[in-house]
Amino acid sequence: MQKSVNVGGGFLVVFLCFIDCFQVGFAQPDANAKGTIRISWDDMKMDERGARLISYKDDYNGSRVIVVDKNGGGDSLTVQGAIDMVPQYNTQRIKIYILPGIYREKVLVPRTKPYISLIGDQNHVCDTIISWNNKASDADSDGTALGTYRSASVTIESDYFCASGVTFENTVVAEPGGQGMQAVALRVSSDKAFFYKVRVLGAQDTLLDETGTHYFYKCHIQGSIDFIFGRAKSLFQDCVLQSTAKKSGAIAAHHRDSPEEDTGFSFVGCMINGTGKILLGRAWGNYSRTIYSYCYLDDIINPSGWSDWNYPYRQKTVVFGEYECSGRGATAGGRVPWLRPLKYKDARPYLDIGFIGGEQWLKL
Ligand SMILES: *[C@@H]1O[C@H](CO)[C@@H](O)[C@H](O)[C@H]1NC(C)=O
Ligand SMILES: *[C@@H]1O[C@H](CO)[C@@H](O)[C@H](O)[C@H]1NC(C)=O
Ligand SMILES: *[C@@H]1O[C@H](CO)[C@@H](O)[C@H](O)[C@H]1NC(C)=O
Repeated sequence: MQKSVNVGGGFLVVFLCFIDCFQVGFAQPDANAKGTIRISWDDMKMDERGARLISYKDDYNGSRVIVVDKNGGGDSLTVQGAIDMVPQYNTQRIKIYILPGIYREKVLVPRTKPYISLIGDQNHVCDTIISWNNKASDADSDGTALGTYRSASVTIESDYFCASGVTFENTVVAEPGGQGMQAVALRVSSDKAFFYKVRVLGAQDTLLDETGTHYFYKCHIQGSIDFIFGRAKSLFQDCVLQSTAKKSGAIAAHHRDSPEEDTGFSFVGCMINGTGKILLGRAWGNYSRTIYSYCYLDDIINPSGWSDWNYPYRQKTVVFGEYECSGRGATAGGRVPWLRPLKYKDARPYLDIGFIGGEQWLKL
């Protein structure tokens, strides 16, 4: 197994090897009896010692730690530098602890590097920011337009990823109606990812929730148009969804083309807030699935609701629903005429981590 950088001195290398071997033999905190890897709170935790004793490469519980400090006090100056230190086909939880600061860089966590945690300070999410500013119409080095997918400031491709206490940001300001203004802050195409107390900030197309099963808990997601979109199966629980649309914009654009696709967006206990005419969801594909339960639809100034894109044939196949939501926006109208009220039994499958099979991979 590749050592992280600068361990200097044979003794330390041997010592770390001893810890590694020991872990392989005795301690697999993330593995349950059946050998299934799970994500637990410990994977998001960083204690004082892990964070401060930079040369101490493993925390108490056997996770490896890499410290990012833009001021030079850590193992890497950049977040990407830390990810580059993770061995290919990594098999063990690696915590990347990011000290406060604005990290102006584009970050990719590749498919070959699972079990990575990105950890900032959960109590000061605004202090640790990964920020970039590509938009869809920007050209790459070959002169080809990046397109929406490649505009992402941070891209997560690897499984069993988790993050906490970090802000992901794309600073492009979308002009209403402007072409090529899609500017993704965070793109997640991995399976089994957990985000706790993160902020995802952008304007048009902020969070590309591309594929896989994901859990967003107590997150803040902000944007103007279609700012949560993709074909993932995700639960957003106790999140703040902040719309910054000047005139009008949809929160969710879930993409589903057939009833066989086991995907959807479920928002539970979220606070929906903002300006403009907010649409709760827009059908992308004939089977788009988006459900809001126990949400508080706050400052929705103009009538809000759902957009069916004027395709009447979708009314039998699109799954849109609201269950026990409250606030002014919950009664403001603007609903597609064919929206059916949900009963508890209809809403039940969407209400907890069972929706994303979370009992298989989350240990919270
Ligand atoms: C290590 O594990 C113990 C027991 O599960 C837990 O209380 C502690 O918070 C963990 N520490 C870290 C840094 O994960
Ligand atoms: C909701 O929006 C209002 C007005 O913009 C603001 O005062 C309030 O703090 C917001 N609430 C949240 C939870 O963001
Ligand atoms: C959606 O359904 C309509 C009407 O049945 C059909 O014409 C269209 O091709 C479908 N779209 C996709 C992407 O399957």
